[in-house]
Amino acid sequence: MRVFVILPAAGLGTRMAVGHHAPSAPKQFLELAGVPILIHSLRAFAQVPQVSAMYVAVRSNERDRVEAQVAEYGFADKVHIVTGGDTRQESVANALDTLHCDDNDIVLVHDAVRPLIDAATIIRTIEAVEKHNAAIVGLPAVDTIKQVERTADGAIITATIPREYIVQAQTPQGFHYGLLKRAFAEATADGFLGTDEASIVERAGASVAVVLGSSANLKITQPGDLDLAEFHLKQLAG
Ligand code: C5P
Repeated sequence: MRVFVILPAAGLGTRMAVGHHAPSAPKQFLELAGVPILIHSLRAFAQVPQVSAMYVAVRSNERDRVEAQVAEYGFADKVHIVTGGDTRQESVANALDTLHCDDNDIVLVHDAVRPLIDAATIIRTIEAVEKHNAAIVGLPAVDTIKQVERTADGAIITATIPREYIVQAQTPQGFHYGLLKRAFAEATADGFLGTDEASIVERAGASVAVVLGSSANLKITQPGDLDLAEFHLKQLAG
């Protein structure tokens, strides 16, 4: 059994803009403690001995930049760069198409913009995939969760969902290759667009286990998130 990692990194990072000012680079290339966010993510997976290779999906105009960074930090022999698509799903599908592996190999998909993932959580995810075929990292909800209907001036609550039934999906999301490939083929044939891989695999009828994650594994999306990530990084180091 081998483990392959796909890191979709082809987003535009438009939510990172402050007011009308676009950031200097898409968020996956911004620096956290002097190191590009994408490199933090690659480092975490490179620490896990089971990982054979990593596939990073990038926009074609970012390929040179990413190749240079990957070489600078010494990952060139473990990392393959593929061209991303217009959606996260398409970026992952492009990477999946370049993978040549056995149905029982494991594929982990991880948001390039979650740089604080740790090796122990990655290993727990791999173990859960070996046992259940599919597993994702999820964070239990701490807030009370409401279902709403959108209205012209906001929203009204239609239900309160007991929070013990809620986890927020994080990454990595791991699957046996054969299952993930079949689920993606079905989604493509039906024109289904999911915001994560688990939704695509659930739709194909498989059950997906959840490994408990942590709030430190945040997805850098909005301006204040970089400061928050620096804070968590210091906590983890200290
Ligand atoms: O946009 P979102 O926050 O869901 O992005 C999650 C991850 O998917 C990011 O690492 C982003 O770069 C990646 N992505 C991608 N291709 C896209 C859109 C997002 O690889 N077209």
